[in-house]
Amino acid sequence: MDIAGRIAIVTGGASGIGRAVCEVLAEAGARGVVIADVDAQGAAETRARIEADTAAEGLAVATDVSDEDQVAALVAATIERFGRIDILVNNAGICPMVPWDQTDLASWNRIIEVNLTGAYLCCRAVLPHMRAQRSGRVVFISSAGAFMGSVTGHVAYGASKAGMLALMKVVAKEFAAEGVLANAIAPGSIDTPITASFGPENKRKYAEAATLKRQGTTRELADAVLYLVSDRSTYLNGATLHVNGGSLLV
Ligand SMILES: NC(=O)c1ccc[n+]([C@@H]2O[C@H](COP(=O)([O-])OP(=O)(O)OC[C@H]3O[C@@H](n4cnc5c(N)ncnc54)[C@H](O)[C@@H]3O)[C@@H](O)[C@H]2O)c1
Repeated sequence: MDIAGRIAIVTGGASGIGRAVCEVLAEAGARGVVIADVDAQGAAETRARIEADTAAEGLAVATDVSDEDQVAALVAATIERFGRIDILVNNAGICPMVPWDQTDLASWNRIIEVNLTGAYLCCRAVLPHMRAQRSGRVVFISSAGAFMGSVTGHVAYGASKAGMLALMKVVAKEFAAEGVLANAIAPGSIDTPITASFGPENKRKYAEAATLKRQGTTRELADAVLYLVSDRSTYLNGATLHVNGGSLLV
């Protein structure tokens, strides 16, 4: 799955799934990988890794995806350096464990703001470039939580991730005729700092819930992203891939 010469923006690329996506896209021939994350140090580490291991050029841009001005600056920096944007992976996300009784408006708003509004702001800033090129791929990293509601006592998280799927479908419908395809991935439990933060007992439960009896790896998730942004995927639009080891079978 060759993506030679493509320019990608990966939000949340400083850690976990986003870092693996940056690495896999760089290995598959991307010319430039832009790592957009609030964690500037982690983003710089991802950049150093891909430049050490591949021919891709990295660009780390400290970005809070929920901030309109910072997202505009991210896109401007990408265009200034690389001249185009072929791939946007809306991966940045937060998943604090805030059960119903502790969910106040501020915590609800922050989760929606980062996970859903952040994806909207990135699409709004990137799409004019893809539309002008008449080509582009947008991938939304949603969650099995969008289908299950709550996994570990979260309230706003599932809503934010279900909202991402509806947003993905809007983009898929609006821009396919202009050469821009949009799809989502709904990961099950993947071994990253987020799932580690829920403790070993929850990690064990997540592994047990999958038919494969283990959590997924970040590389397994990133390979699915590569498929969606590569020329091997040309008739998939508005779809959600369930990369979850069979944990949602009923
Ligand atoms: N790990 C899982 O099991 C799992 C399952 C389903 C969905 N997801 C989703 O996958 C995505 C990546 O999660 P992960 O498990 O790799 O977690 P992670 O914590 O390792 O990575 C998330 C990254 O997003 C960044 N980030 C957080 N807020 C941001 C903001 N406002 N602006 C820019 N960057 C921000 C963080 O700094 C971090 O680098 C998230 O959207 C998460 O909801 C993860």
